[in-house]
Amino acid sequence: MRAVDIIIRKKQGYELTKDELHFLIDGYVKGIIPDYQISAFLMAVCFVPLTENEQYLLTMEMLQSGEQMDLSSIHGICVDKHSTGGVGDKTTLVVGPILASFGLKLAKMSGRGLGHTGGTLDKLESIPHFQIQLPVLDFYNQVNEISLAVIGQSLNIVPADKKLYALRDVTGTVESIGLIASSIMSKKLASGAHSILLDVKVGDGAFMKDVISAEELAMAMVKIGKKNHRQVIAVLTNMEEPLGKMVGNSLEVIEAIETLKGKGEKKFTELCYALSSELLIEEGICQSKEEAYSKIKEKIETKEALEKLRQMIQYQHGDTHVIEDYSLFPQAQYTFDIHSLKEGYVNSLHAQEIGHCAMLLGAGRKNKEDKINLAVGIKLHKKQGDFIHIGDTLCTIYSDFENIEEVQNKILQCYQIEEEKPKEIPMIYKVIK
Ligand code: URA
Repeated sequence: MRAVDIIIRKKQGYELTKDELHFLIDGYVKGIIPDYQISAFLMAVCFVPLTENEQYLLTMEMLQSGEQMDLSSIHGICVDKHSTGGVGDKTTLVVGPILASFGLKLAKMSGRGLGHTGGTLDKLESIPHFQIQLPVLDFYNQVNEISLAVIGQSLNIVPADKKLYALRDVTGTVESIGLIASSIMSKKLASGAHSILLDVKVGDGAFMKDVISAEELAMAMVKIGKKNHRQVIAVLTNMEEPLGKMVGNSLEVIEAIETLKGKGEKKFTELCYALSSELLIEEGICQSKEEAYSKIKEKIETKEALEKLRQMIQYQHGDTHVIEDYSLFPQAQYTFDIHSLKEGYVNSLHAQEIGHCAMLLGAGRKNKEDKINLAVGIKLHKKQGDFIHIGDTLCTIYSDFENIEEVQNKILQCYQIEEEKPKEIPMIYKVIK
């Protein structure tokens, strides 16, 4: 077998076999097949999409390239949650504690992430002394005792994805539904949980810009899950504007805590309720959405969900006082309020660009070696649908740079202000399972 023949076959529209995909992935991970051939293969896939069977086979090849989590020592129902990534996405920090307060077990190995802000791990690391590296045994014990743990990847999970994703990033081949589905699902299958909740973001700040392509991605992932006897629930959610009010690592943890205290932004709170309720219904803990919402509300009001976050911080050696005292988080040197130059309704607030601004402030990484600044970011005071007078504060910038002119100009352009009130976009578009 030769890589070049497989690339040509794919380019000509033939369906690749298990052996051919194994040859490519195994050869690539072992360093036998070079980047340039895999790049050509990835580009071919962007023009001749992977068939359903190829998506499944590729996922399995990637899954088998590394270790898998063994959750057999965890007592109870293990669930997992994943977001395809969005600006200001701190949902795991709210949904995880909510699910844990019902006794569902979330044993999550998380990533750092490239882009506008850090991943969940970076956010957690903004809590002083919080440990993201735990011995695997302690990790499983923690989940048995408090139902919740989020740590860095201590197992070598899906090394094929690490290599392929880095290559896709620099060859313009990220946005292929089959490649995204196999990348996400190989990691989710390796995480061992039976029920997997996928938050598939749709809109300006997401990979999937429209509901139709997001639905295609969601169906692809549900099918891969089914073939592996896993229950996958994909929720298509709105990412036209940043999620919640805060964008930036410590700022997002503060917003998650506020949400667990029942003081979160309405739309973000709604998203957390909707995602949690899907798993509660799936696992038979609640019979309907109404019942799930009312029970989640109770867990928030009684502070049981917040208590789960506190326990996780305590078990992972973080300073639990941050829950009451936000001044213990890393603090930016400067804050700047940005004022509106126009009057009218916020018609849109470009998520992608706001994310880019957060990255310029230092909240995210361009390259995986980059060090990020956990204190900086943006607090959005005005969002889509809000009315603004000239001079009103649109947002506050938390920065360690004294000169933020570039970011300020960009942010002003992110706010599209019109005379007419825009139609409200739903937070949840669709649930696919
Ligand atoms: N997230 C992933 O893990 N992989 C992709 O390909 C895209 C988003």
